[in-house]
Amino acid sequence: MDFKRTDFPPDFLFGAATAAYQIEGHAFGGAGSTHWDTFAATPGNVIRAEDGARACDHYHRFEEDLDLLKDAGMDAYRFSTSWARLMPDGRTPNAQGLDFYDRLVDAMLERGLKPFQTLYHWDLPSTLADKGGWANRDTALYFGDFVDVITDRIGDRMHAIATINEPWCVAYLSHFLGHHAPGLRDIRATARAMHHITLAHGIGVSRLREKDMTHCGIVLNFDATEPLDASPAATVAAQRQDAIFNRWFIEAITKGTYPAEALAGFGAHMPDNWQDDMAQISQPMDFLGVNYYTRHQVAAAPDAPWPHTASHEGPGSKTQMGWEIFPAGLHHFLTRMARDYVGDLPLFVTENGMAWDDKITGGVVNDPARAQFISDHVLATKQAIADGANVQGFFYWSLLDNYEWAFGYEKRFGMIHVDFDTLKRTPKASYHAFKSAIAR
Ligand code: FCB
Repeated sequence: MDFKRTDFPPDFLFGAATAAYQIEGHAFGGAGSTHWDTFAATPGNVIRAEDGARACDHYHRFEEDLDLLKDAGMDAYRFSTSWARLMPDGRTPNAQGLDFYDRLVDAMLERGLKPFQTLYHWDLPSTLADKGGWANRDTALYFGDFVDVITDRIGDRMHAIATINEPWCVAYLSHFLGHHAPGLRDIRATARAMHHITLAHGIGVSRLREKDMTHCGIVLNFDATEPLDASPAATVAAQRQDAIFNRWFIEAITKGTYPAEALAGFGAHMPDNWQDDMAQISQPMDFLGVNYYTRHQVAAAPDAPWPHTASHEGPGSKTQMGWEIFPAGLHHFLTRMARDYVGDLPLFVTENGMAWDDKITGGVVNDPARAQFISDHVLATKQAIADGANVQGFFYWSLLDNYEWAFGYEKRFGMIHVDFDTLKRTPKASYHAFKSAIAR
């Protein structure tokens, strides 16, 4: 890889990220059903109808996985704490779940890994989904109680706590595009989810502050968005898509407003008196997590319903997901966040990575495309720091091949290969290359 640790400030953190439902094995330890179990059991939603019941069996193998992080010389580990494991019905604590995260966090600290917790990475308990999930305001209030329960147990040992992972996916991808649980295509449910997930962040921060937590933030995903051509119509369409995808959450959280271009579609469907929540939503936070993967080019689609846009993959080479590889987009968002929204607040690249159809040959996985991808995105991060963004860490997505949501186990994002029959872990060549880069 074309970077080394000493290219970065001395306390810059290198790490890898995962999420509970994607790796743990949700069938173990008394966890409750989540809306992903329901979504996966519905024909056509997930490749081969796969779910997270066993996943990587991290629940039983976490010591081995944390050893691999440590052996790579990583500084930090971004993980999530499953609401449905900790409160199977969404309301009642599960002692086994609390004990699991207690052991997990101690095992991180024993290995010198800084714990970066994400409170909600999509495992909504089915009992709350039954009551309308994120379209129901009560879910945001119950989320606050969940924050109390897990923070009382492990908050004392967290290096950083993010409330929500990728609220755009929670709301728009899941309620408007229908690609993720609960698989709705309903603008009214979307508008409500867009607001209630943002409110859950605000409530989460309030609860964390009541418990004297520092290092509280959120993880947002960003998608490089450009007009498909030079026409004024494409420019306006790209601005509208940018408002929905890239501006809605960061403007709510830092300025207490939603972009007018997005409210033009959602306004009629927003919950009553949503404006009254904006002060709680926009309270100060301590860091911003940036997830970045790819770029889209946008055309106007005047005959389609609002938002009247058609989105196309960019022209560059693609990953196994079909996502364009476009490192300049990461530099764009890191510098844009600093310039337009957060100033000098610490930024972390909380996810960046690529899927590839990795195969084990002769006991090794040769994945030069991934090593190049990581190198190029870490260098884009370095350039963003040089251009004034206060970026303090980079987390690769993902430590392990895992349950890639609607794509089941087919798409491999890991630095470590997982054989989903034997569950054997095999570090890929990119793992070894990353290890030597951050040792230099
Ligand atoms: C992000 C998710 C993560 C993973 C990657 C590929 O949107 O946060 O769980 O699925 O994409």
